[in-house]
Amino acid sequence: MAADGPGSERMNIVITGHVDHGKSTLVGRLLADTLSLPEGKLQAVKDACKKNGRVFEYAFLLDALEDEQQQGITIDSARIFFKSALREYLIIDAPGHIEFLRNMLSGASRAVAAVLVIDAVEGVAENSKRHGLILSLLGVSQVLVAVNKLDALDYDEGVFNRITSEYGAYLETLKVTPLAFVPVSAREGKNITERAPMDMPWYRGKTVLEVLDSFHNLPSNEDSFFAMPVQDVYRFSNDHDDRRIYAGTIVSGEISIGEAVRFLPSCKEAHIKNIEVWNAPAKTRAVAGEASGFTLEEEIYVKRGEVMVKSGEAAPVRAADRLRANVIWLGSRPLGFHRTCLLKLGSDKVDARLVKIERFLGESGGAEYRELQRHDCGSVVLSLARPVAVSSFYDNPSLGRFVIVDGYDAAGGGIILESLAAAGNEAPEPPRISKEFEEELFAFLKVHFPHRFPDPGGGI
Ligand code: GTP
Ligand code: MG
Repeated sequence: MAADGPGSERMNIVITGHVDHGKSTLVGRLLADTLSLPEGKLQAVKDACKKNGRVFEYAFLLDALEDEQQQGITIDSARIFFKSALREYLIIDAPGHIEFLRNMLSGASRAVAAVLVIDAVEGVAENSKRHGLILSLLGVSQVLVAVNKLDALDYDEGVFNRITSEYGAYLETLKVTPLAFVPVSAREGKNITERAPMDMPWYRGKTVLEVLDSFHNLPSNEDSFFAMPVQDVYRFSNDHDDRRIYAGTIVSGEISIGEAVRFLPSCKEAHIKNIEVWNAPAKTRAVAGEASGFTLEEEIYVKRGEVMVKSGEAAPVRAADRLRANVIWLGSRPLGFHRTCLLKLGSDKVDARLVKIERFLGESGGAEYRELQRHDCGSVVLSLARPVAVSSFYDNPSLGRFVIVDGYDAAGGGIILESLAAAGNEAPEPPRISKEFEEELFAFLKVHFPHRFPDPGGGI
């Protein structure tokens, strides 16, 4: 989203961390110290605490806001905003990793950055690692690690440095580059929006708010390549009106009447004849975010689920029936090899099977991974029943994420790292044997027919 002026831009961030490490306190502080609370709210909560003989906690501010929101009609009670001079932040409340995952995969509130809170007294918890892992799996690479509760340790620089190096080394293994470690006391408001030179003279870096302001927002979808998953094809068979309207929401880029388009995976080509509008002035151009309907010069048959791209644009959208993906599994039944699940990708649905676990990133450890159990994560290979149009998550987050349905339940989800086999541009491929089988077969042939299949590595 482009900024209209200072403060008009919005960034979605997620706050994660182990239980009691101080997430709510940190958020309460950010709300209070950026003056983002409704007028009088801070005082009202402080007064209420005094009246009830309770010690005021910044975390109560969140409860107070939530109570208020829940009394309204909105069910979306977990939306909390604060403002810096630069922009507005929406905090995605993620009490557990399931909610976090749902939020991220639904795309409704995708976070582009994260604040990971670690309690300095307790140190790096297993959950601190798990959250880092989920962030990396979901492609959130801008991470601020807040080392909290340093007031309880007399603002000890040594503790901060130890946590920084321990957790930094862990994040490195995940290919997440933390953009900053900030030593803080959320309760005392140190290094949150204001520096604390008296308490932490050894720290010369940015405050939490300054680091957030240095994060990059998503590039505008409008500037990216054009892509629109076809949601529906309507046909008017009224009298002589036999228009077909290809409808969907443009996920990125822009398109104008007259331009040549291609549909994937079918590879059919056509030209945009008209952009259909209802109860609105006619238009010649449609852009990202708009629900649009197109008629085409040529009569072609395409199905729901295909993705329309521009013929003249080298869009990184491929027809593929094999994907390398990061998957997080939340289903009660484990995801084993060769069980068929349904992959929901854009407006398409396709049967999929897990065929390989390349990297296992879970708790249940062990050398031989045969399945993903609940809460396990992995880099895997999925085989699809037919080619579908996909993009890597990094090229296009909307086309590059998916949800896996097992029976009737959303049981997992993930992001596409790359497509492994393109099919579509050429004539349909003959049925292929699996890569694993091919490898096994080759190994067998090498042993039994060494003269026909010499080892390419040389030797006699
Ligand atoms: P959950 O939502 O239950 O996971 O906890 P949380 O991470 O939101 O932690 P919360 O903010 O509720 O804080 C937990 C406890 O830690 C509270 O008693 C806070 O007062 C305390 N706490 C939070 N920040 C600090 C801090 O900077 N210093 C000290 N000494 N205590 C803190
Ligand atoms: Mg909390």
